[in-house]
Amino acid sequence: MRSQSIAARVVRWQQACGRHDLPWQNTRDPYRVWLSEIMLQQTQVVTVRDYFLRFLQRFPDLATLAAAPLDDVLASWSGLGYYSRARNLHRCAVQVMAVHGGAFPATAAVLQTLPGIGRSTAAAIAALCFGERVAILDGNVRRVLTRLLGFDADLSLAAHQRALWEQATLLLPTRDLHNSMPRYTQGLMDLGASVCSTRKPACADCPLADVCVASAQGQAERYPVRTRKLKRSAQSLWLLWAQRPDGAVWLGKRPQPGVWAGLYCFALFESRDALDAALVGHGHSAPHDLPPSVHVLTHKDLHLHPVQVRFAQSEPGWERGAWIAAADWPGLGLPAPVRKLLSRP
Ligand code: ADE
Repeated sequence: MRSQSIAARVVRWQQACGRHDLPWQNTRDPYRVWLSEIMLQQTQVVTVRDYFLRFLQRFPDLATLAAAPLDDVLASWSGLGYYSRARNLHRCAVQVMAVHGGAFPATAAVLQTLPGIGRSTAAAIAALCFGERVAILDGNVRRVLTRLLGFDADLSLAAHQRALWEQATLLLPTRDLHNSMPRYTQGLMDLGASVCSTRKPACADCPLADVCVASAQGQAERYPVRTRKLKRSAQSLWLLWAQRPDGAVWLGKRPQPGVWAGLYCFALFESRDALDAALVGHGHSAPHDLPPSVHVLTHKDLHLHPVQVRFAQSEPGWERGAWIAAADWPGLGLPAPVRKLLSRP
């Protein structure tokens, strides 16, 4: 099967069976496409949909976003997680205003020089907005292409990743790029998100099934091959939920670098002893331990131990922070677990 007919099939399948009504589709506005691609890097479509629309209401264009304080951007991002995305988003907006006159660069090569935009995200923006002939290779597309090609080299090795990028480029459409590149790019994403699932792919519904090496082998789930897994670590943190009689809560801005940098958080401690030591000498109720939970970050699991304490005295002074009234919480960038605790009835 010639690669051209593979691309043509993906394009046709996208037209007939792909997604067409996501809020970041039916536009070639790079601001919207960029914003959606950054949000979709680590967050599912169903979650991104609402955040995307709310974010656009608050920051309708690049100039508004670039001019806004980072704190406002983090507040709008609150709950989406992976906050370095929001910090890079803001830096990127400032850079496009300052260096590119407020217009996003139209090529993947230049887009890739911007904060938060890696090779695949740059290619997605360039292909979807400008019809550039460049390959994307995010997690979903990697799965589709390694299966299609029977690409079983170990992707833990950079050389094999490079080889897959080359193969992905060879498969791209060659004609009518302005129309075919957006459709083909979206088509691969849609295939990966629906038909070509990690477990039990629906090969009967796939437009490429008859040319798919993995499907012929009956071994789709073997791909992609990656021997070295992400090294994960674990960390325990004690969260001091200190509350005044009037309901105000002690929140401080987390330092950079570190977990939740730039977000507002309870005082954090690395041990229960450290938390108890910080309470000495202050008028407060007996500490009340809440159920621990695990919060999963990219590289580590955070084991969170919230401890609730009612303060009589108004100035604890043990950590950079302030008493913040409930009315002001929604406007702050809060880590999801802190937001969840604060919304307990
Ligand atoms: N995941 C990454 N980019 C996407 C897009 N444009 N549409 C749907 N899912 C995606």
